Amino acid sequence: AAEGDFKGKKVLVTAGPTYERIDPVRFIGNFSSGKMGYAIAEEFASRGAEVTLVSGPVSLSVKSPAIRLVKVESARQMLQACEEAFPQSDISVMCAAVADYAPADVADRKIKRERDEVPVINLVKNPDIAKTLGSEKRYGQILVGFALETDHEFENAVGKMQAKNLDMIVLNSLRDSGAGFGTDTNKVTVMTANGGRTEFGLKSKQAVAADVVDSIAGLLQKQTVS
Ligand code: PMT
Repeated sequence: AAEGDFKGKKVLVTAGPTYERIDPVRFIGNFSSGKMGYAIAEEFASRGAEVTLVSGPVSLSVKSPAIRLVKVESARQMLQACEEAFPQSDISVMCAAVADYAPADVADRKIKRERDEVPVINLVKNPDIAKTLGSEKRYGQILVGFALETDHEFENAVGKMQAKNLDMIVLNSLRDSGAGFGTDTNKVTVMTANGGRTEFGLKSKQAVAADVVDSIAGLLQKQTVS
C-alpha cells in the first residue's frame, strides 16, 4: 500500500444490511455487521481518499474525518443516497448486503397475533443498487461489487460481475469458516472483468480491506497506462 495513493479520489462505499419494514416493530434484514464495508472506507480514507460511506443499520462508528457517513435503513433509501454520490465518485465499492425483497405494504400498526390465522407477507422486488449504478457508469469510473456465495462460488461471482457491469468483484464464501457475516476476519478472492483472479488467505477485515484497495489501485494503474 502506497501512502496517499488515493489522494484527490472520491470514493463511495456501501456497508451493512438493509432493513425492510413489516410493521412499526418488525423488519426483514440479514446478519451483516458492516465491519467489512467500514474497514474498506477507513482504508481508502487512510490513503488520502474523500469517502462517502452509505451505511445500513449497524452499531459501528466511523474513525476518520475524511469519511462522510450517510445513514439509511432500506434498500430504496440506500439507492437514493448512492445515486446522489455516484456521479462524483471515481471509485464505488458495494459491500452492503442489500435485501432483495421488501414487504409490499408496511402495516401502520403492529400486526397482532391471531388465534388461527398466520399472517401472510407479500413481497416486492427491491432495486439492485449495484446494477443500477453499473448501467449509469461513465468511462473511467470504477465499480466494485461483493458476492456472498454458498455454492458454485466462482461462476456465480463472475455472473454477477457481468450482469451488473462491474469492473471487479470480491467473492467471499459462507463455506469458509471465519468468512462472511459478523466475523472479524474474512477470506476473499478478487476477480476482475479482464479475467484476473487472486485468492487471499483468511485475515482480519482490516487486512482484507487493504488487499481489496490494493487491487483497485492496480486497476487504476492499468487504466492510466492503457
Ligand atoms: O458486514 P459484515 O458482517 O462485515 O459482512 C460482510 C459481507 C459478508 C456483508 C460482505 O463481505 C459482502 O459479501 N457483501 C455483499 C453481500 C451481498 O449481498 O452479496 P450478493 O451476492 O447478494 O450481491 C452482489 C452485489 O450486488 C453486492 O455488491 C451487493 O452489494 C449488490 N446488491 C445486491 C442486491 C441488491 N438489491 N442491490 C445490490 O446493490
